[in-house]
Amino acid sequence: MTGGPLIREWVSLRSKNSLGIAASAQFFSQARSLEDLRDALNWADAKDLKTLVLGGGSNLVFAGDFYGLVLQVSILGRRWHEVENDGATLELGAGESWHDCVLYAAKAGYRGIENLALIPGTVGAAPVQNIGAYGAELKDTLVDVTALDRATGKSITLSNEACDFSYRDSLFKRHPGRYVITSVRLRLSRSRPLQLDYRDLAEYFSDQDTDHLTPADVAQAVMAVRRRKLPDPSQLPNVGSFFKNPIISISDWQALQKRHPDIAGYPDDSVAKVAAAWLIDQCGWKGYRDDKVGVHNRQALVLVNHSDGNGQDILNLASRIRQDVQSRFGIELEMEPGIVGD
Ligand code: EPU
Repeated sequence: MTGGPLIREWVSLRSKNSLGIAASAQFFSQARSLEDLRDALNWADAKDLKTLVLGGGSNLVFAGDFYGLVLQVSILGRRWHEVENDGATLELGAGESWHDCVLYAAKAGYRGIENLALIPGTVGAAPVQNIGAYGAELKDTLVDVTALDRATGKSITLSNEACDFSYRDSLFKRHPGRYVITSVRLRLSRSRPLQLDYRDLAEYFSDQDTDHLTPADVAQAVMAVRRRKLPDPSQLPNVGSFFKNPIISISDWQALQKRHPDIAGYPDDSVAKVAAAWLIDQCGWKGYRDDKVGVHNRQALVLVNHSDGNGQDILNLASRIRQDVQSRFGIELEMEPGIVGD
């Protein structure tokens, strides 16, 4: 590259975050290749600037403007490897749209990520929070992640195990800023069983013979279910679930269940994941709105930006919800999106 990286100053991030918050980046650059990425990071390091790597901006809240360099990773590419009778490995550039890749794999007849249709954001953002929906998680198919390790300046490949995934969590989330993901590899299969157990999906297919469903059919079903419940960020800005479903001990779950027999959650042998949407709904927040921000009227876990709300408006609302859930149920809700900006 000649002339250094292309850097713009004071760029509005409004269209680059799905909550539609009108924050700005002091410096902004788009990286279409690993070289672009290295150049831009070197430029920021030389000036001792903070950096923020942006995927689709669908899992963060700008609390204010970002002083430093915002770097959008737009590295594209879809490549098949190790194509065998049944399985194949799909390598995806970090800047690809996650949802487009789900449809691409499903239409090719490969199974494994169809339940993750319509999740907003890029491929590079998917491992950070180990995206999950309708009984599937990214970690179920992910082979490895290639990332630029900012601690060493080297490109490294981290195995699924090294990514240390758990519910909405990963190594990348626990070390913000250290790894810039450039590509992801997934192992897909033509024959693995489709996962239709999640209540909404089971209901969707309840009057159909599911023996001959294709992964594309399941992706379409997931899209229909999501569209019914979750607001489209391009119509009503949001970041999906605003809180994680809290995980509590089975004894606490049983005690709660005694007091609230209709409580929603997913208990197993030792712990239970409580449906945060249910807790928030019970506190009367579903459908709440002030003149700027609110709680979605069909999914209490989704905060929405009705009209030019800023990050503080959203965070104030989140904090009031957390206080109510804490005082009513004794449960602390943890926010899912990252908070950035000054
Ligand atoms: N519920 C309510 N009130 C509501 C909504 C739901 O009481 O307003 C209760 C219902 O009993 C329902 C239960 O909560 O059965 C669970 O609701 P839902 O099936 O919508 O799932 P969720 O636990 O609220 C999680 C993910 C979503 C994902 C869905 C489907 C988290 C934090 N959220 O939501 O992920 O799409 O399951 O698998 O785990 C996201 O992460 O952004 C996201 C949208």
